Amino acid sequence: MTVCAILGGQWGDEGKGKIVDFVAEHADVTARFSGGNNAGHTVMNPQGTFKLHLVPAGIFWPEGIGVVGNGVVVNPGALLEEIDALKVRGIDLAGRLLVSDRSHLVMPYHAKLDELAEKARGDLAIGTTGKGIGPAYTDKAARTGIRAADLLNLEALYPRLEAVLTHHNAIIEKIYQDTPLDIDEIFESCKEWAAKLGPYIGPVEHIVYDAAEAGKMVIIEGAQGMMLDLDHGTYPYVTSSHPTIGGACTGLGLLPSQIDVVLGVFKAYSTRVGSGPFLTEIFDETGDKIRHLGVDPDAREFGATTGRPRRVGWFDSVVARYSTRVNGYTSLVLTRLDVLDQFDTIKICDSYELDGKLVKDFPGNAALLERCKPIYEDFPGWDGVTAGVTKMEDLPAGARAYIERLEELVGRPIDIISTGPYRHETIEVRKIF
Ligand code: GDP
Ligand code: IMO
Ligand code: MG
Repeated sequence: MTVCAILGGQWGDEGKGKIVDFVAEHADVTARFSGGNNAGHTVMNPQGTFKLHLVPAGIFWPEGIGVVGNGVVVNPGALLEEIDALKVRGIDLAGRLLVSDRSHLVMPYHAKLDELAEKARGDLAIGTTGKGIGPAYTDKAARTGIRAADLLNLEALYPRLEAVLTHHNAIIEKIYQDTPLDIDEIFESCKEWAAKLGPYIGPVEHIVYDAAEAGKMVIIEGAQGMMLDLDHGTYPYVTSSHPTIGGACTGLGLLPSQIDVVLGVFKAYSTRVGSGPFLTEIFDETGDKIRHLGVDPDAREFGATTGRPRRVGWFDSVVARYSTRVNGYTSLVLTRLDVLDQFDTIKICDSYELDGKLVKDFPGNAALLERCKPIYEDFPGWDGVTAGVTKMEDLPAGARAYIERLEELVGRPIDIISTGPYRHETIEVRKIF
């Protein structure tokens, strides 16, 4: 059996949820390691359509358990809502979902600070999801965070909460001239969260570690994507955590040597929500066409968390090579190939041009990146459809050629191809497990 990380290769929303749900059939554990409810992972399977934010996408297979690791920031109210909504739909997580007692909580003041900071940034706004993720990780790094374990000891929590809130309220009032938050109201919520979430909270790192050591199948579910990584992404237009492979180790307490397979999930083109550089962005009606394609409204290019329209662009192999280098993908997963069925010409960016010179490696320097221009190869569209195809040999020849060209440009095999949002709309090119 295998420990397999499934990571976003681009700017998030690559279809990680769908792929985790697809491969988790034999998984004993599916574990999230970073981000919070800024993530929106869509799963469409025989049980229905689900948009998960904190609950790992492997939980639709009844044998497996879900783990929310220490690297995740947990909004307790949002998690409880998600648990309740799943229960109403017949998916009971009692005893099957474990939340690390070391995970940090996203508190009401984090969402408030996120909103106020974004407003203050004006034209330089990051375009965050507004869920308080950045401020929660800020508190974690500042060592003023409240952790899930703190809900299990409310008496000790009150004075700590008081100190943190006094600090944040001063910022809310004095810097932003806004209304401070009330400690008693927040503490009342903490009591309610403690009562309802308490049974899920515990020391979970050993569960993932022991499962890996025992040779069980563990899926590590990435959130966000490589280009949103706090260190390796397009800083400052990034999230505040590490969606890359190193984050999987720190965010779960796993050893690098325990991870056997690293799958990089890529859309057959690119999307990005929020601000920041996006060299292959399409601004004309082709972009609008890509955004609105997809039979199911739940599978169109609008954010699963915020409903915002996603910016769309062509596949950027400079980004994909960089993403592969940072994460060491053992192979790739290509999603949303079906969306390209509708085009006569498809562009692939193979390199950038900077001051007349060819750039093949992604520039870390934002000022240089700004001056880069994408160089495209035009690729002919294909006759026939890929939508819903489940066997490689049933793909149109043109689509197969497109896949081969991407493999060549990125330097990794594509082992899974997704041809629709539903679980079964998937081609297993080679057996990974
Ligand atoms: P995640 O955040 O990486 O899990 O991705 P999201 O769920 O936010 O966004 C991916 C969107 O694409 C969702 O609406 C999925 O239902 C949809 N999707 C996933 N794979 C495919 C595919 O192969 N084809 C199509 N048309 N939609 C897909
Ligand atoms: P999944 O897991 C796409 C983006 C936001 C914004 C930036 C910072 O569904 O792929 P944040 O709220 O994290 O401080 O926002 O990161 N972002 C995502 N974009 N998919 C996500 O998650 C994202 N999570 C954060 O749009 O640009
Ligand atoms: Mg998403």
